[in-house]
Amino acid sequence: MSANSDVQRWWTENPMTYGATHGRSDYLDGGQQPGSLEFFDRLDREFYSWNKPLHKDRPFDRLFPYDRYGKGRKVLEIGCGLGTMAMNWTRNGVDMTAVDLNMTSITQSRRRFELLGLEADIRQMDATRLEIADGMFDYAYSWGVLHHSPNLGQSLAEMMRVTKPGGEFGIMLYNRRSFLHWYMTEYLEGYLHYENEFLTPLQLASRYSDGGREEGNPHTWPVTADEVMAMLSPFVDRCEVAVLGTDLDSIFKYLIPGVGMFLPGWAKKPWARRFGWSLWITGSRKK
Ligand SMILES: C[S@@+](CC[C@H](N)C(=O)[O-])C[C@H]1O[C@@H](n2cnc3c(N)ncnc32)[C@H](O)[C@@H]1O
Repeated sequence: MSANSDVQRWWTENPMTYGATHGRSDYLDGGQQPGSLEFFDRLDREFYSWNKPLHKDRPFDRLFPYDRYGKGRKVLEIGCGLGTMAMNWTRNGVDMTAVDLNMTSITQSRRRFELLGLEADIRQMDATRLEIADGMFDYAYSWGVLHHSPNLGQSLAEMMRVTKPGGEFGIMLYNRRSFLHWYMTEYLEGYLHYENEFLTPLQLASRYSDGGREEGNPHTWPVTADEVMAMLSPFVDRCEVAVLGTDLDSIFKYLIPGVGMFLPGWAKKPWARRFGWSLWITGSRKK
């Protein structure tokens, strides 16, 4: 079995449901049946709550250029999970295409769109081999996906290939120069809990950085800003990397036990902006 089919199998069994571990929805109170509108609504609220600083008037409007890409523009999401972001983009009036490697996500996203009376092209596809013609999209984005691809360089090249010359992109990838990686993964689990003896760096990061510590996540490898910039540079006119520190609230309580959870926002922000867990990479495709 190739590494990518392991990734596919794992995400099919553990789709991104925003529970304490992937595949679970422990925040449900029993009233919401999976696959129902109430379920999607509850899941979306959970997803939004993980990213509070990224919303102002509507979900993720601090992240996405909704104002530049409205009716008639073509937008692609790579790795749509259960379809929350694609739903918001579709409501912005765009001609939406959403792809994901695992079929659970595709089935659930299609169901969501059907229940809401929304239309989009939602298809199973592998980021390393997009079955899409060159230069199709005005805007392409991917949130928390491509660090799960065993071939990140190829996935980024594919994303750039299908983006129009002059089109824009946004990519969220996990940051290796982060408190989460250094402290929670390398120090706490790798060194203190002695996991370095048993796991390779990739296995350690895959198990402890994503998925709430369940075993089996086959590939999660955080990157550095320099690595991504180097991979994207042949394809772009402009590229910027911002560090999103939305994870820092949860990290500080481990980092400074007893005090961390009481630190005010202004004391955490400078650290979040340097060593947060998510890199948000934006730019435009070469003309
Ligand atoms: C952490 S989830 C994120 C999902 C969604 N973007 C979100 O934020 O809720 C990662 C997703 O990436 C998908 N994925 C992993 N490797 C992929 C690949 N090579 N091509 C397309 N999707 C992939 C998984 O199936 C999974 O749905």
